Amino acid sequence: MGGADEEEVHDNYCKTRFNNIYKDLCSVFRMNSEKFEEYIGKEFDGMKPPTVEELVSVKLPDFQPFQSLNKKIRAYSDCMADLRERIYGMPYQREMRGNFLMQLEQELVQSNDILDAGCGTGLDVCFLQMQYPEKRFFAYDISHKNIRRARARAERLQLPVRFIVAEHDALPFAQEIFDLMYINEALLEEEPFLDTTRFIQMFFERFGTLCTYLRSHGIMATTHAFPAEGTDTLHFWHLYAAEQAGMRHLEHTIIYEPDERSNYFGCAMNKFEKTS
Ligand SMILES: C[S@@+](CC[C@H](N)C(=O)[O-])C[C@H]1O[C@@H](n2cnc3c(N)ncnc32)[C@H](O)[C@@H]1O
Repeated sequence: MGGADEEEVHDNYCKTRFNNIYKDLCSVFRMNSEKFEEYIGKEFDGMKPPTVEELVSVKLPDFQPFQSLNKKIRAYSDCMADLRERIYGMPYQREMRGNFLMQLEQELVQSNDILDAGCGTGLDVCFLQMQYPEKRFFAYDISHKNIRRARARAERLQLPVRFIVAEHDALPFAQEIFDLMYINEALLEEEPFLDTTRFIQMFFERFGTLCTYLRSHGIMATTHAFPAEGTDTLHFWHLYAAEQAGMRHLEHTIIYEPDERSNYFGCAMNKFEKTS
C-alpha cells in the first residue's frame, strides 16, 4: 500500500477508534455544567441573594460557657440555615459548586456508595443522585434544620438520598463502606470556636476518623477557601493530615480563583486515595 493510502487507513482507524471511545465516555459521563446550571437555576428560582445588611445582622445564638463544641456548631449551623441557602444562590457560589461537582465525575463513575459529609441543605447530593440514579448516596449534617430542608428537597425531586443528622466525629456507619466521600467546605467550621493548636489537633484526628469509613482505594475529596494573598495554609494541613491517615494525595485543583465577587477568597479542591 502506498504512503497516502496508508495514511488514509490509519486516519479512518483513528477516527473509528476515537468515536467508539467518545461514545463510551458519553454514556458514562452524564454531567455537564449546563445540567448543573439548569438544576441550580430551578432550585434557586425566586430566591434573592442576601444583602450586606442581612449578612451583618445575623444574630448568632448566645453560647453557654460550658456548652460542648458540637452543641455550639449545631446552634450556629441551625441559625445560619436559611441564610446559607440564599448565599449559595449567589452567582460566584454557583460557579464554584458547579466546578467542584464536575471535578468529581471521574470518581463518581467508579463508585457505588457515596457519602456527602456535612451536606448542608443537600444541594450537591441531590444533583448527583439525579445524574446517577443507580448509585447509593448518603449524606449527613450536624444541623437538624439543614437536614429537614435537604429531605424536603429530595422528596420534592423524588430522589432516594439517605439523609441523617450526625456529627463528623461520631458517625453511625460501619467501617470501610464508602467508595467516595466528599466534604464541600464542611470540615473547618470549628475554627472560630477553638484556639489554633486545638483546632489543628482536631482537624488531624477528624481526618483520620473519616478515612476509616472509606474502602481500600476509596477517594476523599475536600474543598477549602484560600486568600488571594499569602500562603494557602489549609492546603498544607490537608496534605499533612492525609499523610498521617495513610492517604495518597492525587490532585489539587483551584475551583475558584479569588476575585472581587468572592471578596478575594478562592476555593481549592484536594483529592486523596486511601492506600491501605
Ligand atoms: C459551609 S456549610 C457547607 C454545606 C454543604 N457541604 C454545601 O456545600 O452546601 C458547612 C456545613 O457543615 C456542617 N457541619 C459543621 N460541623 C459539622 C460537624 N461537626 N458534623 C457534621 N456537620 C457539620 C454545617 O452544619 C454546615 O451545613
